[in-house]
Amino acid sequence: MSKPHILIFPAPAQGHITSMLKLAELLCAAPGFRVTFLVPAYIHRRLSNHSNATSRLRKLPFRLHPIPDNGHQEDIRPGSFDVKDWLDSLRMTAQPSLKELLADEGDPIDCVISDGILSFVLEAAEEAGVPVFYMRTLSACAFWVYFCLPHLIQTQELPFNSNELDLPMVNLRGMEGVLRRSDLPSCCRHGLDSRSMQTIMHQTLQTPRAKGLILNTFDHLEAPTLDLIRTRIPNLYTVGPLHAHLQTRLTAIPNSSSTSLWEEDKTCLKWLDEQPENSVIYVSFGSIVRVTVEERTEFWQGLVNSGKRFLWVVRPDSGGIIPPEIADGGMGRVVGWAPQEAVLAHPAVGGFLTHCGWNSTLESVVAGVPMVCWPHFGDQQVNSRFVDDVWGIGRDMKDCCDRVVVEKMVRDVMEDRGGEFRRRAGDMAKAARESVVEGGTSYSDLDRLIRDIRDLCN
Ligand code: UDX
Repeated sequence: MSKPHILIFPAPAQGHITSMLKLAELLCAAPGFRVTFLVPAYIHRRLSNHSNATSRLRKLPFRLHPIPDNGHQEDIRPGSFDVKDWLDSLRMTAQPSLKELLADEGDPIDCVISDGILSFVLEAAEEAGVPVFYMRTLSACAFWVYFCLPHLIQTQELPFNSNELDLPMVNLRGMEGVLRRSDLPSCCRHGLDSRSMQTIMHQTLQTPRAKGLILNTFDHLEAPTLDLIRTRIPNLYTVGPLHAHLQTRLTAIPNSSSTSLWEEDKTCLKWLDEQPENSVIYVSFGSIVRVTVEERTEFWQGLVNSGKRFLWVVRPDSGGIIPPEIADGGMGRVVGWAPQEAVLAHPAVGGFLTHCGWNSTLESVVAGVPMVCWPHFGDQQVNSRFVDDVWGIGRDMKDCCDRVVVEKMVRDVMEDRGGEFRRRAGDMAKAARESVVEGGTSYSDLDRLIRDIRDLCN
């Protein structure tokens, strides 16, 4: 039997590393598979430095390979952050190590799984004659929107004026009447010259060059959109939710590995143990979003006025200060970084105030926890619309940060009069779990991916 050696290269940001590490773990568990996982040296240090890092990965045929970063390190930041500069700088620092690994005849690479926004990896692998699969770490619905941007420009639905945000989209196949202009990825609001839009659009349009596209989603959740994507990219693997998939496939290996770039504060789980069932709203805006002091005050005031208990993640690097009222405790608890999957699975947690990053959204779906969505940038704008308008498992608070609205939406979701949010969230959670057990769609697609990689190596 062949022993495939796979090189996995994520974009160096928490949301991307989280899901691609989970895929790495699943592939390592396939008999004979070995994985080399590339990350810049500064990410390598952060993943290796804290106590809970990658413990399970150490027991697998897995190598976390640092790329020299020449002292350069940059985290994604919305606003002034320039995605093109970020990717260009990654290309400059990573290309030599990448080419070296692809040319290594002593330990040849059989196949590359590249983050689908890193076309320089695709080009290097093509040059070396190594097959490449793409993985995108966002939802199918957001991917489809990015893929359709050229059509929206051609049909002149893009660009639009800021006073047209409420207009429904008419030329977005499959999403007519669902999305409004305000629900498009945030880069679409900045005109056709936006470097972010041009970069992400260019990257997305390279996808059909890859052997196939891997998505962290499941068929039941996004079936109509997945059918549309298949018309353009026939070889699609839907293998998510990856964290749930890991739980079913890797039960034999205990101590689940952490993929966090920050140290997790597990004391909040003990605090949750003391709270009544479904009484706590968990508040977190992921690894990138920065909340201003004014916004934080509106959230705090809205939460306090709702009368609900809350567990709030305020990252040490997220800027601003914590109002003393929050730090003082009372109905709330603040941590720097939480063990999010465990928090969402805790019976005390009854709602999630989230930025709707795709990992967070999927983690909430699997836990059956309804959401209040405050999307900030990128794909989050699309995800939050689907959570509210299509899946009916939460409320979309897009473009608004006001204590009265926060209070109302938190009450709506936590009190859930009629029980509809929890019922639909429970049904979706069941469908998610069914997709990752033997016979489920994601389980079968992961098997197909493993088979296809093995065939390529023969
Ligand atoms: C980014 C984008 O924002 C997101 O929209 C895209 O889909 C992926 O990349 P991020 O903003 O960090 O990611 O959000 P998200 O995708 O939700 O990922 C955050 C991850 O960090 C989740 O897996 C979550 O469990 C984890 N997390 C977050 C923690 O473990 N602890 C915390 O306290 C907060």
